[in-house]
Amino acid sequence: MPNILIIHGPNLQLLGKREPDIYGSTTLDDINNQLQSLARKLKIDLRIEQHNSEGDIVTLIAESMDWANAILINPAAYTHTSVAIRDAIAATGLPAVEVHLSNIHKREEFRQHSYIAGVAVGQICGFGVQSYMLGLRAACELCSS
Ligand code: DQA
Repeated sequence: MPNILIIHGPNLQLLGKREPDIYGSTTLDDINNQLQSLARKLKIDLRIEQHNSEGDIVTLIAESMDWANAILINPAAYTHTSVAIRDAIAATGLPAVEVHLSNIHKREEFRQHSYIAGVAVGQICGFGVQSYMLGLRAACELCSS
């Protein structure tokens, strides 16, 4: 059974209340429940974590290296700033899928660059909660290829 590490970055614990016009009204718990239900259908095992601090995300990625077969990450604001998370993903050698609820390419200029994209297999953005579901399917495919 493939293992997939799912990481939610900073401020995503506020989903549902946070700028709902941009991020929707679905809470993080709802998203995680939907991910777990898809995981059961796909027969994969998930470890799901949300962290607000960059160092915690870097540590989590390194610690999961021997357990995970792929990484699904919404790095949130660290997408646009974090060389450390990029390096941590690269260090694992694991396939990673980057997801965003919003279409970062249609938003402010500073959101249009991702430090993570260069170490991800691909990026899915702009589909709201479905970005995560599509991302999980992609990560699952990567485990079997
Ligand atoms: C986000 C987009 C980021 O630019 C932003 O900082 C977030 C959420 C998204 O899912 O659309 O916190 O990653």
